[in-house]
Amino acid sequence: MEANTTLAELFRRGVVLLGDRPQAVLEAKVLLLRAAAISEERYLAAPGSPCPAKAEAFFERLVAKRLDGVPLSHLTGTKEFWSIPFEVTLSVLAPRPETEGLVEKVLELSTRESETILDVGTGSGCIAIALAKELPRAEIQAVDISERALRVARRNAARQKVRHIEFRRSDLFSAFRGTGLRFDFIVSNPPYISRAEWDALEPDVRDFEPRRALLAGESGLETIERLVRRSGTFLKPGGYLVFEIGEGQRDNVLGLFSRRWTEIETAWDLAGKPRVITARRA
Ligand SMILES: C[S@@+](CC[C@H](N)C(=O)[O-])C[C@H]1O[C@@H](n2cnc3c(N)ncnc32)[C@H](O)[C@@H]1O
Repeated sequence: MEANTTLAELFRRGVVLLGDRPQAVLEAKVLLLRAAAISEERYLAAPGSPCPAKAEAFFERLVAKRLDGVPLSHLTGTKEFWSIPFEVTLSVLAPRPETEGLVEKVLELSTRESETILDVGTGSGCIAIALAKELPRAEIQAVDISERALRVARRNAARQKVRHIEFRRSDLFSAFRGTGLRFDFIVSNPPYISRAEWDALEPDVRDFEPRRALLAGESGLETIERLVRRSGTFLKPGGYLVFEIGEGQRDNVLGLFSRRWTEIETAWDLAGKPRVITARRA
């Protein structure tokens, strides 16, 4: 251990160690800030400050784990979504930028009045919390089959001081059966990966993201099929179902809608892939 290692020296060491990775410079910076528990501003103001020995050892452990394939978001414990920092753990999917398209779609369709919204498969709570911040008059329910994921989501909501979301454990709509509750919006980023896609996933994803968050049976469509079939019962007439799909699923997904649905539309993501399906209950 070198007593006088400075933050900048440690940063350079990280860049060298992570050298084969495409984002080596960015990753070394993020891990250094995490290990030293400082902001980027503080680093930039005094890169020559000595780094405490404990932080140096922590930084080296983080770099070693990154080289072993642990995702950056799991090492820092946070991932940004809709410009909000979200706690992520091994129990939740790290929010993906393409899912922001789902939030954008709901905001586009919202009247901004006191609408009711249900987020199915909330994970870290990213969709529900982003919507709660944008739509302070909305009443939001968020469900997940995983109690561990719900604990993370509740902590994220508390950190963002968002109080108008009710989190409950539910297998899709099971918690609402017999309640008579109907929503203006049902939003979901459901699991949609097939068994074959799961087997071919990068170790970064397969070993560190919860299987239940991603895998949806042999075909990848099992959860989406249930979501589309059952959501009609829990939407108000004229209410919207807005959900994310995976690559190559659009045609099969569009085939799931019966005549009870209108205004079935697709939104493409920035990579030009069909990503968000919207449908309105007739
Ligand atoms: C793809 S992740 C999405 C998480 C988060 N909404 C996001 O966009 O980052 C899917 C989530 O659905 C949950 N889930 C899977 N099957 C479910 C079910 N049958 N009922 C409710 N939630 C489910 C998983 O636990 C996981 O948190």
